[in-house]
Amino acid sequence: MAFNLVLFGGTGDLAWRKLMPALFQAFRHGTLPEGGRIIGVARDEMSDVQYRELIRSRFDQVELAKRPSTEEFDRFASLLHYQRMDLSKPDAYATLKARLDERAAETTVMYLAVSPHLFTAVAEQLGAAGLNTPSTRLVLEKPLGHDLASNRAINQTVLKFFSEKQVFRIDHYLGKPSVQNLMALRFANALFEPVWRREHIANIQITIAEDLGVEKRGGYYDGIGALRDMVQNHALQLLCAIAMEPPINAHADAIRDEKLKVLRSLKRWTPATLASHVVRGQYAEGNIGGNKVPGYLQETGVNTASQTETFVALRAEIANWRWAGVPFYIRTGKRMAGREAHIVVNFHATPHAIFQTPNGGANKLVIHLQPKDGLELHLMAQAQANRRDTNSLSLTQLDLDFDKRFGTERVGAYERLLLDVIDGRLNLFVRSDEQEEAWRWVEPVLTHWQQDTNLPRQYTAGSWGPSAASGMIAKDGFCWEEES
Ligand code: BG6
Repeated sequence: MAFNLVLFGGTGDLAWRKLMPALFQAFRHGTLPEGGRIIGVARDEMSDVQYRELIRSRFDQVELAKRPSTEEFDRFASLLHYQRMDLSKPDAYATLKARLDERAAETTVMYLAVSPHLFTAVAEQLGAAGLNTPSTRLVLEKPLGHDLASNRAINQTVLKFFSEKQVFRIDHYLGKPSVQNLMALRFANALFEPVWRREHIANIQITIAEDLGVEKRGGYYDGIGALRDMVQNHALQLLCAIAMEPPINAHADAIRDEKLKVLRSLKRWTPATLASHVVRGQYAEGNIGGNKVPGYLQETGVNTASQTETFVALRAEIANWRWAGVPFYIRTGKRMAGREAHIVVNFHATPHAIFQTPNGGANKLVIHLQPKDGLELHLMAQAQANRRDTNSLSLTQLDLDFDKRFGTERVGAYERLLLDVIDGRLNLFVRSDEQEEAWRWVEPVLTHWQQDTNLPRQYTAGSWGPSAASGMIAKDGFCWEEES
């Protein structure tokens, strides 16, 4: 299938770090359709040959075993082209159109890996130049706005020129194999559905911890913060995958309708819950892997009096029949004790104890998202360590490691998502109404923080965040996974 993939931001950070490696992987796996053109777009003057050389240098940084041979890269490079464009000039779009018209293609993907403040202008220009044909797909990277109003403004403009079915809003968490496995766990196995509800589940915890700091993105991140960067999108999408009703089929709209219902059912914030169910933190200097690292306020590009949060913990509730009263705890932060993302489903203890069990015999299911990708089901068992005591049970685990089972060379998140865009599959992309609803829910927290005279709580880099996050969940009688 002939396709054009026009990569706006073709020399930018995302293309460099994620998109080119993912496209190369798809090419290597033989899944990238043949007869395609990948056209990098940027402001610099450059020929196709120079662009190919630039991208080749990207692969010099890849570990030796995974580095393409010259012959392999040359075959991949024959797909790569370059188009210089000043995105504010209508002429530039006319030139792009002429270039695209040179060769017939069934699909043209316009991938906007550029600053979001350009989204509306580029969408308008694409429309004005007649580059919004029915076979065109538009890919928008996050963040789509910084609040509900700006998100709506972007979506409204984009939808003037493209139909919803042509717009692929990326949340790269949905491309992770572990997240797709979560859907498989819930909707391809009958085992869990009967217990997946308030009668059996005590609480659910979603943790996305990073040990990295803001790295070179201090200037961008400052003023954005963890709530906008991670919760509004990635964490809420995970919450939807955990909490949604079984969709009527596996088509995009059926899945997105159910996710939207979850977002709409999130209990709205009140002054009381804003005060007691949200903790914001900011990392202070500390130690990561034996190395001293600076605090957030000392990072390059960060205002020294910044109140931007690098950590958020919050307690959400879903007001529907399945989940009423079950707390969903979300926690995410930078410079935490490790890179670790998981979801823990804590089941109720046994109703009547005939054995001595840890946790009152409460089972739990741990869904590991990264770096490990797998499932652990915690069960009580008779370890018989003490031959006299047959009444005491221990906790043990059924451990399913997907990397070991299926190999680590599985399709990566961006590889999956890029192939889906080219094939026109919308399942793993976010619809505008979902996105708006997620903004609607987080916005009161942002407003509350603007008025809050308390500064973000400091936490030592390399820790699990401010102790108030443990205090918040302890009020309900629970503790975070790593403390249990
Ligand atoms: C991005 C955020 O969306 O996700 C980054 O902007 C964050 O701040 C990243 O580091 C985390 O993604 P992953 O796949 O490394 O967990």
